[in-house]
Amino acid sequence: MENDKPILVLGIETTCDETAAAVVERQGDGSGRILSNVVHSQTEEHVRFGGVVPEIAARAHVDLLDTIVGRAMKDAGTGFAQLSAVAAAAGPGLIGGVIVGLTTAKAIAMVHDTPLTPRLSCALAFPYCLFLASGGHTQIVAVIGVGNYVRLGTTVDDAMGEAFDKVAKMLGLPYPGGPEVERAASGGDPARFAFPRPMLGRADANFSLSGLKTAVRYEASRLAPLQARDVSDLCAGFQAAVLESTADRLSVGLKLFHEQFGAPRALVAAGGVAANQAIRGALQDVAAKAETTLIIPPPALCTDNGAMIAWAGAERLTLGLVDAMDAPPRARWLLDANATAPAGFANTRAGF
Ligand code: KG4
Repeated sequence: MENDKPILVLGIETTCDETAAAVVERQGDGSGRILSNVVHSQTEEHVRFGGVVPEIAARAHVDLLDTIVGRAMKDAGTGFAQLSAVAAAAGPGLIGGVIVGLTTAKAIAMVHDTPLTPRLSCALAFPYCLFLASGGHTQIVAVIGVGNYVRLGTTVDDAMGEAFDKVAKMLGLPYPGGPEVERAASGGDPARFAFPRPMLGRADANFSLSGLKTAVRYEASRLAPLQARDVSDLCAGFQAAVLESTADRLSVGLKLFHEQFGAPRALVAAGGVAANQAIRGALQDVAAKAETTLIIPPPALCTDNGAMIAWAGAERLTLGLVDAMDAPPRARWLLDANATAPAGFANTRAGF
């Protein structure tokens, strides 16, 4: 594939409860533009269950995806014939949704004779250190090149966003819990409860969140019925513990990065939890101490969206990496194929 020609990629994202599509344009010099980025959040369909229900999500993707793709194409002012490739998030995620997105991408690619590039990555100067914290992931990853990842740390139990969601649920706050906990925490006293700081001081860069979550549960049931003040203080205490633990784990992660790959070009934070202002502040301090730059994509690009998928496709296409029509949908997909799940790892997302 020639390097100096602009390429146009449609990206489709359906791995959880966002039905999303976007069109991006990548120039020969590696710069890019998002021509459209349409995201439909299914939060309303799941809110009464207190978490994402996989079957409901998959059905909603089937209903919505055609319209969302059509709108992304229209907003970008382009037609299927102009596309250089179609990219879909082929995993990891809820398998029903992944199948819907990948199959739709395959159908578009087949009908319009367009290459298919089902992968996920990020576009930045390599190597960089990625902190990925969402409802399904908590990982520190060394990104060495396109598709070349080395996992430096991961959660041994709950994902960070999942812990926020579960704490919200036990305190009677609505789903999704992250923003609710952040809001309640802002008026609370972080020192009222002595919550544990999981994994603090350990030589590896792993995370653990379930013990902290359980500590919040004990305090909440001890105090029940909870007053608004209690909820705020519990949220503030929980968030402060997450912040301290995150700062410590990331410092270790960056140290491991240095030892193995030299200085990172940046610390990049992605995933829904990166929208949390207090966590952003902690990351800023960690980056400054490690003498690197913190990059956090705008909130709309931190959570599930099609633009990141389209961009990953554009990067891969530029390198001549195209996938066959039998590319499988995957519920689990480790960024680092050599990384094994740590002992005790369990995927307990949303508590279903
Ligand atoms: O990246 P994302 O949209 O992908 C999924 O995992 O679907 O992340 C969603 C997660 C949820 O668990 C949500 O509670 C959490 O990110 N989250 C937050 C905040 N905003 C979203 N967690 C803490 N503070 C926030 N402000």
